[in-house]
Amino acid sequence: MTPRKPLIAGNWKMHGRRADLAEIAATMRLAGAAREGIEVAFCPPAAYVAAAAALGLAPVGGQDCSGQQGDGARTGEISAAMLADCGAAYVIVGHSERRAQHGEGDELVCAKAKAAFAAGLSPIICVGESWREREAGRAADVTAAQIAASVPESAPANLVLAYEPVWAVGSDRTPTAAEIADMHRLAREALAARIGVSAAAGARILYGGSVSARNAAEIFSITGVDGALVGRASLKAADFAAIILAHPAASAH
Ligand code: PGA
Repeated sequence: MTPRKPLIAGNWKMHGRRADLAEIAATMRLAGAAREGIEVAFCPPAAYVAAAAALGLAPVGGQDCSGQQGDGARTGEISAAMLADCGAAYVIVGHSERRAQHGEGDELVCAKAKAAFAAGLSPIICVGESWREREAGRAADVTAAQIAASVPESAPANLVLAYEPVWAVGSDRTPTAAEIADMHRLAREALAARIGVSAAAGARILYGGSVSARNAAEIFSITGVDGALVGRASLKAADFAAIILAHPAASAH
């Protein structure tokens, strides 16, 4: 099995202006040689995807795409093919904010992931339990069920899964290292059941939810964690670069 290259992706959500694209160059400069062993990607708002990709400094991703593959009468929607045309390599689908704020369910998330593959993008498919579900002892079941229903059945290994417990997103709370290890083991098992053992072994599984310079080193040291999806701390180059530099693969270069 080829080793999985760590991926650290910034999710800017609905933040930033054109001038903030300078943070991409600053992040890459500060991360320096660490970038050789770690893939660093940026997911700015859709309005800035083309400009971010045109910088040619790092892979760029969208934060969402339509579940419809062809063009059509879908006011306000952006297709995966359009993101690819703008130079994107990734697209986040099924983020917990889309699931909660826009009522997106697993079936739609799966259609979006399929559209991403059809357009040549790697989807970053987000799954994870709510606090209520964790308290009820259902974190594993809920996450496994989301994986079974959100990941397209024949997905190739360029799929990225992001385990993002909903209660850890934007909250400054994170699971313990043991909990993250458990959930990542379970996520890879659920992925193997869905797409086969060898594709699942090649897919990267990121942790997301309140990753910061303070906790990044510990999170990256957990077996089965192939990187991170970072929200708030990806907006400023100094914060994001500190996370990148905390990865063990950063010091290998
Ligand atoms: P956060 O967001 O790092 O601000 O918690 C993570 C995410 O939503 O992807």
